[in-house]
Amino acid sequence: MKVMAINGSPRKGWNTDMLLKNVLEGAASSGAETEMVYLYDLTFRGCVSCMACKLKKNTKLGRCVLKDELTPVLERAHEADVIVLASPIYFSEVTGEMRSFVERFLFQYLNYNDTSKPLSPAKRIAWVFTMNCPEAMFDSLGYHALFKQYEGWMKLFFGNCETLLSTDTMQVKDYSQYHLGMWDSDAKRRRHETIFPQDCKKAFELGAKMAKP
Ligand SMILES: Cc1cc2nc3c(=O)[nH]c(=O)nc-3n(C[C@H](O)[C@H](O)[C@H](O)COP(=O)(O)O)c2cc1C
Repeated sequence: MKVMAINGSPRKGWNTDMLLKNVLEGAASSGAETEMVYLYDLTFRGCVSCMACKLKKNTKLGRCVLKDELTPVLERAHEADVIVLASPIYFSEVTGEMRSFVERFLFQYLNYNDTSKPLSPAKRIAWVFTMNCPEAMFDSLGYHALFKQYEGWMKLFFGNCETLLSTDTMQVKDYSQYHLGMWDSDAKRRRHETIFPQDCKKAFELGAKMAKP
């Protein structure tokens, strides 16, 4: 069982990275072979709409033909049994790098003859999202719809998708050093010490579950 984590955060060792590492540790505890891909370490573009993946004469139908540092990642993702994508929320979206990854990963599999029959191979998929926003603000910011949409895209292509949310995260270690006055630094620290470890445990359990044969 091959489990691949796609990390859409630029910050190694922070919230998204810690959660994904727990996912992979959980997967390894179920006997899986694991890999972490840091999108911000790669030079790549989103889909350029060349349409070559839909060309009738194309012998590699349904595979992205663009050549850059994402190309080998897409090859390995094609073979993986489980893919866990993780991103911080930036301006109510996934990060730019994650968005570019999703475009390249999914568009190659889109079947414009019949969208109910995508060209994607079978795999298990999960999303992990981290954000400053507390859950109480989801309705006013439309975040339920945002996460449902990203889960929906994966369900369309792979027929399954789980989502783990880590909310109200700690953005910096010492809030007193920054102009971040809207946040209660003590509340952030307390949440990081009490709730975030629970999120990490859920991430471990998610990885363990997804990697079970
Ligand atoms: C450019 C930028 C935009 C952000 N926009 C949002 C946002 O719209 N909603 C939100 O809840 N958090 C937002 N955040 C906060 C991050 O999503 C949050 O701190 C996240 O947990 C960071 O993940 P990391 O620790 O893995 O980098 C933003 C952060 C940055 C740097």
